[in-house]
Amino acid sequence: MKFNIPLKTFLLGGLASQITEARPKEPYTELYRPQFHFSPQKNWINDPNGLVYEDGTYHLYYQYNPGGATWGALSWGHATSKDLTHWTEQPVALLARGFPDNVTEMFFSGSIVVDEENTSGFGRQGRAPWVAIYTSFYPMEQTLPSGKHVREGQQAQSIAYSLDQGLTWTTYDESNPVIPEPPAPYQDQYLEFRDPNIFWHQQTKQWVALVVVSKIHKVLIYNSRDLKHWSLASEFGPVNAIGGVWECPSVFPLPLDGGKSTKWVMLLSLNPGGPPGTVGSGGQYIIGDFNGTTFTPDLDSIHERSAPEGSVIFQGFEGTESYADRGWVATGDFIGVSPSVGTLAGQNPVTGFLGKQLVNTFLNGDSSTGTLISPAFDISHKYINFLVGGGSNLNKTAIRLKVDGNVVRDAAGSNSEHLTWQSWDVSSFQNRSAVIEIIDNATEGWGHISVDEISFSNSAAKNEEANWLDWGPDFYAALGFNGLPPNQHTIISWMSNWQYGGVIPTDPWRGAYTVPRHLSLKTIGQKARLVQEPAGSWKAITRGGKTSTFSLVDGVRNLGQIGKAIEINLVFSDREPSPTGDSEFGIIVRATKDLSQQTRVGYDFATQRVFIDRTRSGDISFDDTFASIYSAPLSPSSDGTVALRIFVDWSSVEVFGGEGETTITAQIFPSSNATYGQLFSIGGKTENINLHTKEIRSTWR
Ligand SMILES: *[C@@H]1O[C@H](CO)[C@@H](O)[C@H](O)[C@H]1NC(C)=O
Ligand SMILES: *[C@@H]1O[C@H](CO)[C@@H](O)[C@H](O)[C@H]1NC(C)=O
Ligand SMILES: *[C@@H]1O[C@H](CO)[C@@H](O)[C@H](O)[C@H]1NC(C)=O
Ligand SMILES: *[C@@H]1O[C@H](CO)[C@@H](O)[C@H](O)[C@H]1NC(C)=O
Ligand SMILES: *[C@@H]1O[C@H](CO)[C@@H](O)[C@H](O)[C@H]1NC(C)=O
Ligand SMILES: *[C@@H]1O[C@H](CO)[C@@H](O)[C@H](O)[C@H]1NC(C)=O
Ligand SMILES: *[C@@H]1O[C@H](CO)[C@@H](O)[C@H](O)[C@H]1NC(C)=O
Repeated sequence: MKFNIPLKTFLLGGLASQITEARPKEPYTELYRPQFHFSPQKNWINDPNGLVYEDGTYHLYYQYNPGGATWGALSWGHATSKDLTHWTEQPVALLARGFPDNVTEMFFSGSIVVDEENTSGFGRQGRAPWVAIYTSFYPMEQTLPSGKHVREGQQAQSIAYSLDQGLTWTTYDESNPVIPEPPAPYQDQYLEFRDPNIFWHQQTKQWVALVVVSKIHKVLIYNSRDLKHWSLASEFGPVNAIGGVWECPSVFPLPLDGGKSTKWVMLLSLNPGGPPGTVGSGGQYIIGDFNGTTFTPDLDSIHERSAPEGSVIFQGFEGTESYADRGWVATGDFIGVSPSVGTLAGQNPVTGFLGKQLVNTFLNGDSSTGTLISPAFDISHKYINFLVGGGSNLNKTAIRLKVDGNVVRDAAGSNSEHLTWQSWDVSSFQNRSAVIEIIDNATEGWGHISVDEISFSNSAAKNEEANWLDWGPDFYAALGFNGLPPNQHTIISWMSNWQYGGVIPTDPWRGAYTVPRHLSLKTIGQKARLVQEPAGSWKAITRGGKTSTFSLVDGVRNLGQIGKAIEINLVFSDREPSPTGDSEFGIIVRATKDLSQQTRVGYDFATQRVFIDRTRSGDISFDDTFASIYSAPLSPSSDGTVALRIFVDWSSVEVFGGEGETTITAQIFPSSNATYGQLFSIGGKTENINLHTKEIRSTWR
């Protein structure tokens, strides 16, 4: 039990009723208010910053707009917790300079260390200083107190210190910014240079900072002895997922398989260009080694985007020729056109193609239509592989294979600007003559298609372009706590997405964080994998708990009212997929009695993928891409079972699959009467189902 009576109530006696009115009698009861996730009382938040554990307290700082529930005047908010579960909001730690009338410096993302040995010299009277490093964003050109001159829109790295355990901060105005701009040859990137992450490297006895040059997908690694003077040591990237910009880098050691050896893990956020099937933000990790100056990735942690080895490239759309010069027949608006350059300003922001060019039918917008027909070729390999993105309507935006004039295979995008590999098994058409046709017969709403790297191979191309940290749409800017030993490394992420983060229907706050997640490394399927499990004092906030074991024939089982904030543990046997139709088992949560609203969490036995389907999850109206299905690969465990641990809150679902090697995080906005649950088994009987549900109490009341 916590007593949340504002101090002013005592001090002001008679005025108490007026003052307490500002705060709802039952705090944190708004329609979509997270009950066991952190969200600020009011206003906008995005990336977590400066996570640090010291002296029994976890400190969470975060990107915060003190002026409202949309992005702006970015400052560092602050909250503290003793158990990673119950949080207390603290006064703003770093307030945008000049707020509210004339903001001249915003405090973008960064990190915090406790400078135990006073290397910075900021300590006073026996107190070790805390030092924060952050990105200064200067909205206008100006000369700073340090005498340094900065340009409009410049991003530079600055420091501040605290002598009262992180409550109040003093910016180092004598010298800020301490890393004013990117080094040669990247000086022109001063508008996109951010998110410093610092930590102490014990072996080399120095401070290390990672900073990204966002647009060119480079992590710069700096060293320092005093946190004030930084020298560039090495650079890393681009590798793996490079859609959009890179943000929020960090690197930290983790024991592998409980401690036999230690590997280093780099986290990188990217926006857009998240996991396949999502639009907007995402996060990836790379496993390797770090020696104080240089990060060396493990070879099996790096993925090639190219077509499978030994592929014959039929058309990569590189070079200057028009479609006609390549022997392709163009109709409609594509007559006389050449493949487009992927990064032209003013175009749709396509990602995931190879080389510099691709087919992109977003010519002068969605209104253009027509077809592109390849020269005839003989089918010579088992597979035709290609990269495809754009609209998902197979009738309107599609790539098709025609044999003897008939369409025998087709494919489309997934309403995403990101191109992913798709494959046609064409083994039954060996040696037959064929043509490939790309059609765009749509003039609005995802009325375009992107295609690249059409190639022939005896193996299907794979989309393993990254090690995704989470496969859902709402997991960004993951950051770990400094001050915890490697075997307790714990991260928190912004549970939202730049695609719609500014328009989600919450009020008076906007933004929440995922449950803190403890990280470890486990060898699964002969490969080191990052494993996540929820951290915090779950026992203190869960109650009840019903376990039952049963099987479910093709059909559903109503669970009645299971609640709005729940933990669900669901284990069941893997099974042979049905030869015809879908084969799924799962649970519907946050459903209305009539099921008109529902969020489905399940497992597809044919594809061995776990999914969250939020297409009917409640309010989906604020963004065109929100109503989607997100899935992630999850192999059954060696005993032939599949385990899902699901955390449902008033506006989110987090799924931990297997041992935590696969997670999916998604926001949902159901109405308050969406309290029902149901199990479903599709395409056969699901056996050895073990269901355990617990109600989760609010951490705010
Ligand atoms: C805003 O603050 C800067 C720096 O203090 C000052 O140079 C500028 O004149 C101010 N602008 C306005 C509109 O007050
Ligand atoms: C830290 O270093 C500064 C500068 O040398 C010194 O004035 C201060 O006393 C030191 N503080 C502590 C706690 O050692
Ligand atoms: C770290 O590794 C890099 C690359 O192998 C090497 O150049 C550098 O000297 C090493 N640094 C230390 C401190 O061992
Ligand atoms: C595509 O066309 C077929 C046949 O006309 C129709 O049944 C189907 O509903 C259409 N699909 C979409 C997504 O419009
Ligand atoms: C296709 O043609 C090749 C070479 O002419 C021949 O070796 C192969 O058996 C043929 N395959 C089929 C399935 O007809
Ligand atoms: C495009 O749509 C029109 C009208 O629905 C249809 O008549 C035409 O056949 C379509 N073209 C292609 C290439 O599918
Ligand atoms: C649930 O609540 C919504 C609005 O809050 C209402 O429109 C809807 O009819 C309710 N549904 C059920 C099944 O009670």
